[in-house]
Amino acid sequence: MRQSTPVNQRGPSAQPEIAAATAADVEAIRALLVASGLAADRVADRLDGFLVVREGGRVVACACLDDHGEAGLLRSVAVAPERRGSGLARALVAALLARARRRGHVAVYLLTSTAEGYFTRFGFRPVERARVRPAVLTSDQFAERGGCTTSTVMVLEFAHHPDHPEGGTGR
Ligand SMILES: CC(C)(COP(=O)(O)OP(=O)(O)OC[C@H]1O[C@@H](n2cnc3c(N)ncnc32)[C@H](O)[C@@H]1OP(=O)(O)O)[C@@H](O)C(=O)NCCC(=O)NCCS
Repeated sequence: MRQSTPVNQRGPSAQPEIAAATAADVEAIRALLVASGLAADRVADRLDGFLVVREGGRVVACACLDDHGEAGLLRSVAVAPERRGSGLARALVAALLARARRRGHVAVYLLTSTAEGYFTRFGFRPVERARVRPAVLTSDQFAERGGCTTSTVMVLEFAHHPDHPEGGTGR
C-alpha cells in the first residue's frame, strides 16, 4: 500500500511528501538508521509501520509506529544529517501520532537516549518502566533496550485510562 500525505510544515512552501515505505526502501531505511546511530534490525518485518520522506528518489527521513494493540511504539525516527532542522521528523511524527489516534491507541511510547528534549515538543514525557503497558514492555525494542539505564522511556497518553491514572494528557 502506498499513501501520500502532505503535512503542513514551517514555511509556506515546505510540504514534505510523506509516503508509506515499500520493500524497495528497506536498504535505504537501514542505511539511514545506521548513519543516525539507531538500531537497523528487522526493518523488513516492521515495514508496514514505516513512513518515509523521499527526495529525488532518495529516502531522507523515516519513522516507524509499531502496533501493540492498545498502545503504539514510536521508533526509528531518523533524518539524513544534511536535511535536519527542516521539519521532516516533525511531519513524520505528527503523521504517526495521527495514525495512532485513528487506531484507537490509548498511548504511544518511545525509547530514546539522545532526543528526550525533542519528543517533549509533542507532549511525550518520561515514564517509569514499571508503568509501561505490558504489550509494549514485551516488544523487541524493550527486550533489547528496556534494561538499558541510559535509555529514557517516554509516553504520550491520548486519553484517561482507568488502569493508568497518570494518563489524561497529551492532546
Ligand atoms: C532527532 C531528529 C530525528 C530530528 O529530526 P529533524 O527533522 O531535524 O527535526 P525537526 O526539523 O522536526 O526539528 C528540529 C528542531 O528539533 C531540535 N532537535 C533536533 N534533535 C534534537 C535532540 N536530539 N534533542 C532535542 N532537540 C532536538 C533542533 O534543535 C530543532 O530545534 P528548533 O526548532 O528550535 O530549531 C534528527 O536529529 C535525527 O535523525 N537524529 C538522529 C537519530 C535520533 O536521535 N532519533 C531519535 C530517537 S528515535
